[in-house]
Amino acid sequence: MNTNATDPSLVAWLSDNRDRFEQEMADLLRIPSISTESEYTESVAECAEKVAADLRAIGIAEVEVVATDGNPIVVAQHIVDPSSPTLLIYGHYDVQPVDPVELWDSPPFEPTRRDGRMYARGAIDDKGQVHMHIKALEARLATGLGLPVNVKLVIEGEEEVGSTNLEAFLAANAERLACDAVVVSDTGMLGKGVPSIATGLRGLAYMEVHVQGPAGDLHSGGFGGAVVNPANALAEIIAGLKDGDGRVTIPGFYDRVRDISDADRLNMEQLPYSDEAFRAETGAPELGGEAGFTTLERLGFRPTCDVNGMLSGFTGEGAKTVLPAKAMAKISMRLVPDQDPDEIARLFTEHVLQSAPAGVTVEVRPHHGGWPWAANPSDPVFDAASDALQAAFGSEPVYFREGGSIPIIPLFEQTFGAPVLLLGFGLPGSNLHAPNEWIDLDTYHQGIETIARFYDAVAERMG
Ligand code: BES
Ligand code: ZN
Repeated sequence: MNTNATDPSLVAWLSDNRDRFEQEMADLLRIPSISTESEYTESVAECAEKVAADLRAIGIAEVEVVATDGNPIVVAQHIVDPSSPTLLIYGHYDVQPVDPVELWDSPPFEPTRRDGRMYARGAIDDKGQVHMHIKALEARLATGLGLPVNVKLVIEGEEEVGSTNLEAFLAANAERLACDAVVVSDTGMLGKGVPSIATGLRGLAYMEVHVQGPAGDLHSGGFGGAVVNPANALAEIIAGLKDGDGRVTIPGFYDRVRDISDADRLNMEQLPYSDEAFRAETGAPELGGEAGFTTLERLGFRPTCDVNGMLSGFTGEGAKTVLPAKAMAKISMRLVPDQDPDEIARLFTEHVLQSAPAGVTVEVRPHHGGWPWAANPSDPVFDAASDALQAAFGSEPVYFREGGSIPIIPLFEQTFGAPVLLLGFGLPGSNLHAPNEWIDLDTYHQGIETIARFYDAVAERMG
């Protein structure tokens, strides 16, 4: 089939343009489009305009920057034949903050090439991967191959803050965005040279727990032992969230969790994956989690509960003897099908309030959440992706479930009644959300080739 046949003009053109692509990706990465901090609002808007300008420059027919109550959404379409299949490409141009900035080896918004990688905030999550889609489209249009399918794009600027305004936008524009499949490149691969399709994402419930004790900080000698310490109380509450086997103790937490199927277990056993390599990537002395499950099961098929941050008392230099007035923790729960984020938030709240020791007041505040998601990999769009990955990487893709979340994904499926394909190109250790985030440049170019071939495969498999 023609996706597997090497197309000399496409391959040669891609190879001739490698350097320019990388430089243009760097231009996109240079814009500090941090959506979680309001002082970057202008840069975020500038980044939306940059994405739109890049799409116009390659000849995409209709490109619009849509204002919202929050950050703009870039919406574009290139319709070649209304009777052909239509792909909707979703991605995000917003990025996470850069702290702790002193741990970066090169400044986060000065993209730097080192060891076959480009380092910058957003390099892999997700501006680099959005850029791959833009360059794949360019390759088709510039070589005269054209597009055998219709393409629509929705590139948002609020993924890292819960996609609040995208939700309403999708609902209001369901007809305009109608499509036969949604393609998202915002996940990873199991290893370099291992083409991968993610078949699941975890959901999220994110909570804040506030513990208040005395009206103000007290002398830990004059009051310690006679007044309940909110930091100790919070520690007790947190310790009570899991048992010795690493199981979450919140009543009802596991009620809707699906069993792992034999087919899924068999698939995981065959994946090119090693616990030791995974451990080394983290730098932790040992891996750990819920008893009775492998690491891949813990990440893809089991929910969990983790403290993301804690604040209380004196943490400065030396020893100040103080009994803190309050303590706070941010706690996330990653969810799996068929857990319901609102229900889990409620169960968490009830459990925490009930387990709070006497002598303090406890308040639980929920943040944004998201539903877990699992794919139906029998859809032809998965075969099309497999053809394209095989052609670009030289081997068949592996299928695995990601532990991260993209809360808007289930909504795409519901809104358009179309399958979602997670065609991600991040390598293990790419430091997303951490200092020294990078994209592997070989994989970046292979990804562009994959996407450029994918359109043909879609036309064949879905046309
Ligand atoms: N690209 C990630 C999601 C991801 C992370 C997929 C790791 C696969 C592996 C996405 O941009 C992200 O960070 N999502 C947030 C969602 C949250 C802010 C609602 C996440 O998972 O923490
Ligand atoms: Zn992302």
